[in-house]
Formats: sequence, structure tokens, C-alpha cells
Amino acid sequence: MLYEDLYAESISDKEAFWAKQASYLNWNIPPQNILEHNEGKYRWFADGELNMSNLCLDVNIANGRGEQDAIIYDSPVTNTIQHITYNQLLDDVSSFAAGLRNLGVKTGDTVVIYMPMIPQALVAMLACARLGAIHSVVFGGFAPHELAMRIDDARPKVIVSASYGIEFGKRIPYKILVEEALLEAKHKPDYQVYYRREEGFDTLAGANDMDYEALMKVGKASYTPVSSTHPLYILYTSGTTGRPKGIVRDTGGYATALRFSMQYFYGVKQGDVFFAASDIGWVVGHSYIVYAPLLYGCTTVLFEGKPVRTPDAGVFWRMIEQHKVNHMFTAPTAIRAIKKEDAEGNMLKDYDISSLQTLFLAGERCDSDTYFWIKDLLGIPVVDHWWQTESGWPMLGVMKGLKSPEVMPGAAGKPVCGFDIQILDDDGRIVQEGHEGNIVVKLPLPPGCLPSLWNNEIRFHKSYFERFPGYYLTGDSGYTDADGYFHIMGRIDDVINVSGHRLSTGEMEEIVSKHSAVAECAVVGIADELRGQRPLALVVLKDNVNIDETVLEDELIQLVRGKIGAVAFLKNAVVVKRLPKTRSGKILRKTICYIADGKPFSIPSTIDDPSILKEIEEVLSEKKLGLAFS
Ligand code: COA
Ligand code: AMP
Repeated sequence: MLYEDLYAESISDKEAFWAKQASYLNWNIPPQNILEHNEGKYRWFADGELNMSNLCLDVNIANGRGEQDAIIYDSPVTNTIQHITYNQLLDDVSSFAAGLRNLGVKTGDTVVIYMPMIPQALVAMLACARLGAIHSVVFGGFAPHELAMRIDDARPKVIVSASYGIEFGKRIPYKILVEEALLEAKHKPDYQVYYRREEGFDTLAGANDMDYEALMKVGKASYTPVSSTHPLYILYTSGTTGRPKGIVRDTGGYATALRFSMQYFYGVKQGDVFFAASDIGWVVGHSYIVYAPLLYGCTTVLFEGKPVRTPDAGVFWRMIEQHKVNHMFTAPTAIRAIKKEDAEGNMLKDYDISSLQTLFLAGERCDSDTYFWIKDLLGIPVVDHWWQTESGWPMLGVMKGLKSPEVMPGAAGKPVCGFDIQILDDDGRIVQEGHEGNIVVKLPLPPGCLPSLWNNEIRFHKSYFERFPGYYLTGDSGYTDADGYFHIMGRIDDVINVSGHRLSTGEMEEIVSKHSAVAECAVVGIADELRGQRPLALVVLKDNVNIDETVLEDELIQLVRGKIGAVAFLKNAVVVKRLPKTRSGKILRKTICYIADGKPFSIPSTIDDPSILKEIEEVLSEKKLGLAFS
């Protein structure tokens, strides 16, 4: 089928299109009401009932997949490879669901999951889904403060965690981090459940501490059908302020979209092996490590390791050969990390990767060098695609399950079925091809996209729909070329992407500005050869403050690391005399980035004092900071 035809169908009659896609799922009550529109809010399949854990497990087993691997857990950091069949996974999930139920967890309750990349984390997610409990997975790289904010917002009945995670041989003591977070959080869950990875590593001394394995022994839980609009999960993502946004995901729309994406976007066949090298703490992990591959009867590869140094830059190629991976998904940063360590691609020569059909890249912009390097090395299609936590599944790309146009290097692709994507100028007018503007999606969004922010309808409306009524604001800017491909240029807000991790510079500014020596500051995302972007703090000192600049820099780095986590990757904080601003006082952050990145820019007409730009340039040059000066 031609991409153009299916895309046109998906836009011209959305209800008929998605009703057909939804009909491929096993609903307990099939929906009649396909799309409900109420006061600007859209809900898909509102009168349908289903259960995600049933779709992912029981249905596949009923279809004869019981003895097929559901998960291949590959953990070079613990020297473990474990195959878990659909039968075994159902057994574990229904056991853990019974354990959670014993702790009082029921439909509609929330459960925070803070775990490394181990099968027990997937079991916990699916067990919540089985009960109709709403999970909120928190990325393990976040510090206790971030975890505490999410606990206070999600108000979980239970937290599920583990003794530790492993990062390049270093143990990350999750249990201790949970305990620190609970000291800060106002909300107190009823129980903390810990999966203990090693005899004697920790004790369950707390009054409400429970042992994961013990909970597995209390019985079995069958699944509870929930309404299509029932939240499957909350996933927090960075916004422009220190408070993360709790993206809510419904059940029926999400299941419909994920199933559709496996067939038509990723071009996957049921039974294929799908390897998404991300983390369950991110949306890619939710959608393409856990729910989509299992929903579609595939084998998902769960990787507890890194693209390099666990043990080497050939680990992906080894896994593709060993597990006969058919489709792989990773972030460009991972490819850049491999290229840095094995520029000639010599490690690949040791492995047979003929099972691999396509490599998908997302999470950040893919530069052409990286694209051509990996494409030439692997000799298979490499597909960049663009989406975000809010959408839950791809919005732009080249749909591999259809007869689609070729990949255009440097472009993020064409709109995926269901997404009516447009580019508007700041006054809401559609811009001409070749001109940069705000990337928006015409409402209604297709199934799978966020129906709301957790307990925050006002922020939901303000963040996404207020600026351009009738459209969803993605927060990215970009342009289209003459062939209709979209090119993503970056964010229009204070969000940056470091190693494929979405972070808020606004939050970092809030933290830096709390230091007693700092009068004001700007944290901007500058280009980084490996990580895509990294934060740089520029600080103006309070009058009469006398502090050694390297001491201050160190304190600020530790502050951000302590509050957000090591992933924030703030490595430089430099003192400047003044910050460049518009006459109305707005800091010209983009201009600072252009200077650091060595990109041409025109001096904004609204600038208060252009001479400050020269000062910034001198400081960055002296410190050798930014691609322009390093
Ligand atoms: N738990 C705890 N800490 C974590 C973590 C996690 N899950 N992930 C990263 N960190 C820590 C790292 O240990 C490091 O700490 P350090 O400063 O004490 O050394 C810090 O956060 C920065 O991490 P990172 O930016 O990832 O750098 P790195 O040198 O550890 O690894 C890469 C570099 C390229 C190998 C790694 O970033 C990577 O695998 N990137 C791909 C990411 C990805 O797949 N993203 C997809 C999202 S869709
Ligand atoms: P997240 O919500 O963490 O998935 O981050 C989403 C953001 O990452 C998007 O809004 C983009 O800014 C960026 N992003 C994701 N994929 C791509 C891509 N393929 N090209 C460019 N930017 C991307």
C-alpha cells in the first residue's frame, strides 16, 4: 500500500480510519463511540473496555505464543542472558499483580516504579496494568529530589524499586535514593517494595519495606477490564519550569496507536525480535521496549548496558547476531559513542547481523555525519523519526510498513498517518516551504497522544493549546522542503536534549539562581559532539561577593547534579559581567547558543546593549567553551 494513500485516508476520515485500526484489538467491550469531543477535549473510543496486560500476555498466549520468548534480558553488566516466554511472563505478572493487590492496590491507584533495566521492572509495569493501577516509571538517572517531586504529584500507594542499578560498573543504590526521596516528599506511600538483586546487599529494615520476591508468592491475579480512557500510566517529562509535566496515557487509544505503528511504521511482523536500546524511564522504553512489542506478539530485547564499554563498542552487533534482532531503535548519541570508539567499524566484522532489517533513530536530531556513517557501515535502511513523550508514538518519519518515499538524510521525514502536521509563524499563519516556524498538529490528535496532564488541566491547556487555538503545540521548530519532508531545527522553549535525555534548562536556572553568590543566570543548551547538546551556565555575581570562580563552578555543578541527577551533565558554569537581554528584559538565550556553537546570527533588533555579546564571546573563547572555541 502507498504511504500517500493511507495517509490521506487517515486525515480525511479519522473516525473511520481509527475505528478500523481499533477493531484489530481484543476489546472486552468494543467501542461504538469512536471520537468524543467535549469543550475542546478529544477522547478516543470512550465507551470501549479492555486491559493492556491482557492484550500483551493472555491474548498472545491464546494465539499460540505461550512458548515464544516475550523478553530476552541481556545484561552485560551482570553477565546475564535470560529468555522469558510469554507463559512465564504471564505467570510472573499475575503473581506480582496479586502481591500488589494484597498491599491494597486497586484500579485507579497510582504506583511509582523506580528500577533499573531488569525484567522485574517490566513485570511491575504489566502487573499495574493488569489491575488497572496507574504506573509512573521514574528514570533511574534522576536524583532523589526529582523522584520526590514525582511522588508528591502522583501520590502513589506503593513504590516499587530495587537494591541497585549498575552504571559502567558503578552501583547506583536505588533503595537509598528512594529513602532520601521519601524524606523530602510530603506524600508518604503505604509501602515500598524492593527487588533485592543480591543476598546481603541491603536489608528491609523500614516498617513499610516489602520484599518483591515474597510478594510473588501470594497468589495470581486475573486482569481487570478498564475503560479505554482509563490512564495506563503517567510519565513525567521536562517542561520549561522546575516542575515536570505528568503526561497521562490512556489505554485504548494507546493500544490502537501502538499496534498500528508496529505494522505500518516499523514494518514489523508478529513474532519478530525488536530491540529498542533505550530505558524504561523514557517514553521510548514505555512504547517500544514494553507495550508495543508485547502487544504485537514480538520478542522484546531488554538491555541493561551501554552502547560502549559494556564491554565494548561491538555490544549492539553481538546482540543483534545472538538474538537475531530484526528491528533496532536507538538514539543518535549511541551511534556517535560507538563511532568515537570504533571509527572504522571494525567491531562489526566479528558479527553476522543479517537478521537486521532497519535501524530506527530518534530522541534527538540526527546529524548527517552520524546518519551516513551508520548507514554505510550497516548497509541497511536507517530511519530517523521524530516524536515526543506527549505523542507516545512517531509523528514524523518514513513509514517502513508501507511503500514510502525514500529517507531524506537530515530530514525527520513526512507526517505519520493520523498526524496533520503544519508549520505556523508566530502569528498563527501557515509558513511557506523553506521557512522556519512552530511545528503544530491540527486537532484532533490521533489515538495514543496525551489526553491530559495529571491533575493539571490548566497547565495542559496553557502548554499545548493556548498559543494556536485548534492546534497542538509541539514545542519544536522546523521547516518543510520542496519534497514535503520536515526538518526539525530545535526547541522553541527551555528544553534541551542531552544524550537523548530531555532536560529543562529552566529547572537548572532555578537551581543555579538559588546559590547565595548568584544575582542572575542563564542556562543554555550548547552543541556537543557526542551528546548532541549539553548545558552551560552563565552567572552574574551579586555585588560585593568575593568567591573563587572555580569553587563557585564546582558548587553549582554539584547543586544541579544533586537536585536533578548526573544525567543533567552540567560541567561548566562561567562568571560573566552581564547577560545579553532585550529592552524588555528577556535574556537572549538563543543568541548565546549561536555564539557558543559558532553559528552565524544577526544581532536582535530588540537587544538592550549589543556590546554584551562581545563580552560573552571573549569569556567563552578564553575558557575554550562551545564548539566555536574548543
Ligand atoms: N542511572 C543512574 N545514572 C545514570 C543513568 C542511569 N540510568 N544514566 C546515566 N547516568 C549517569 C552516568 O553514569 C553519568 O554519571 P557520571 O557523571 O557520574 O559519570 C551521567 O549520568 C551522564 O551520563 P551520560 O550522559 O549518559 O554519559 P555516559 O558517559 O555515562 O554515557 C553514552 C554516554 C553515550 C554511552 C550514553 O549517554 C548513552 O548510552 N546514550 C544513549 C542514550 C539513549 O539511548 N537515550 C535514548 C532515550 S530515547
Ligand atoms: P522526549 O519527550 O524525551 O521524547 O523528547 C522529545 C523531544 O526530543 C522533541 O520535542 C524534539 O525536540 C526531540 N526529538 C525527538 N526525536 C527527534 C528527532 N528525530 N529529530 C530531532 N529532534 C528530536
